[in-house]
Amino acid sequence: MGEAVVRLDPANVVGPLPRRLFGSFVEHLGRCVYTGIYEPDHPAADALGFRTDVAELVRELGPTTVRYPGGNFVSGYRWEDGVGPRERRPVRFDAAWQTVETNQVGTDDFVDWARGVGVEPMLAVNLGTRGVTEALDLLEYCNGRPGTALADQRAANGHREPHDVRIWCLGNEMDGPWQLGHKTAEEYARLAEETARAMRRLDGSLELVACGSSNRAMPTFGVWERTVLDRCFELVDHISAHAYYEPVDGDVDSFLASSEDMHRFIDGVVATADHLAAVRRSDKRITVSFDEWNVWFQQRSSDGGAIGGDDQVSVYDVTDAVVVGSLLITLLQHADRVAAACQAQLVNLLGPISTRPGGPAWRQSIFHPFALTSRYARGTVLRPLVRSDRIETTRYGPVDQLVATATLDSETAQIAVFAVNRSRTAELALTLDVAPPLPGQAAPAQYRLAEHVTVHDDDPGAHNTEQEPDRVVARPGSSSVRGRVLRAVLPPASWHCIRLAPVEPS
Ligand code: AHR
Repeated sequence: MGEAVVRLDPANVVGPLPRRLFGSFVEHLGRCVYTGIYEPDHPAADALGFRTDVAELVRELGPTTVRYPGGNFVSGYRWEDGVGPRERRPVRFDAAWQTVETNQVGTDDFVDWARGVGVEPMLAVNLGTRGVTEALDLLEYCNGRPGTALADQRAANGHREPHDVRIWCLGNEMDGPWQLGHKTAEEYARLAEETARAMRRLDGSLELVACGSSNRAMPTFGVWERTVLDRCFELVDHISAHAYYEPVDGDVDSFLASSEDMHRFIDGVVATADHLAAVRRSDKRITVSFDEWNVWFQQRSSDGGAIGGDDQVSVYDVTDAVVVGSLLITLLQHADRVAAACQAQLVNLLGPISTRPGGPAWRQSIFHPFALTSRYARGTVLRPLVRSDRIETTRYGPVDQLVATATLDSETAQIAVFAVNRSRTAELALTLDVAPPLPGQAAPAQYRLAEHVTVHDDDPGAHNTEQEPDRVVARPGSSSVRGRVLRAVLPPASWHCIRLAPVEPS
């Protein structure tokens, strides 16, 4: 059995938790939109054609921000096709995913859906096949006050009030040769600079995300960020990062340590941005928008057929859920420099929610760590001191067996601990204590266990299906709390959410 000791000091903090860390992503890809969130003929469809059973699961999942409409899709997208009367919208070939796009869902529809499920829309403009004009047009259409042609067009389409979209992505993965309109770093930097400058002329208070690297293994990683931020430093707020993880050649031990890569990725981007700040003698801190991340079996799909096909539902097992939980922990650990993050995607392909056309919707295993982290991570992210046994991985060398973070909700004084035992074979004995308050600091003298839930299974390949949708759920974990000390034994490959509540003095 491995051992780990954690000390939480409420005075040692990463910073306030940005709620946008719990973002998600709806792309016109596979069945995310059509027969995912939208299916007008479904018995559970609302008046706008959106599935209420899916909307209910989205509310339970708890994403805060949802990025739209892509992804690779946005790089060939003409937003004008997706607005106005549905019967007049053109059907087009989507060159990104090589499929047919009916445009029955577009920007207005997505914003309606987003507001309905209580999430903030995050829109991307097409900087692949299009440029400054179209980005400005979309911005005016969405956010303009009635009285100009495009804002009036929106009003005529049933949305008099501006959509007031605050956060915008300047294209998608423009560093990737697979991207429609792929560009060199210089070419993209120039276009992003001009687009950002023009968009800011319409609204100086927008938050803009420049494209960073599609993953940390891209040959241009680092140089891309430097080139883009060198031009756009004053014009953008965030730079994106994307990462998908899978067991490469069956190496599950390294897969369970995937958060190591995310951690190094964030550190690398932050170092690059801060170097540019130093050169400028600037106090500005560019933050990371980790606006695509998840487990994705690309090896498996390249063996087994084209992505973007019509009936794709990603099936996630317990190991995948543990990895997703550890990636969320990593995002929380970097809450001071990651301002937003989007799990890609929301429904069906790569989604925590699955649907059958005309049939039910159900939760994948990865739904649970996301929903619980979004629900219980509140307030301030603490910076725990962690001393953990190490385990060997082929890909990342020796890594801590324990990954952990915690948040402190100052309103309730509750502490939520999120922890993963990364070992596939060994249990982990965890001892966690909360440091006594500093002199003059009000803090509870004792805690009690409010709840401990875990995602773990003796069969790490267990997964949910339409027939058995609750095969994998979060179950009660076992731990004890005495005074300010928590003890728990974490089974191999397990994710945990442990909540400590203050004991009121009697
Ligand atoms: O999320 C699936 C795809 O992965 C996105 O469209 C693209 O941006 C990334 O490569």
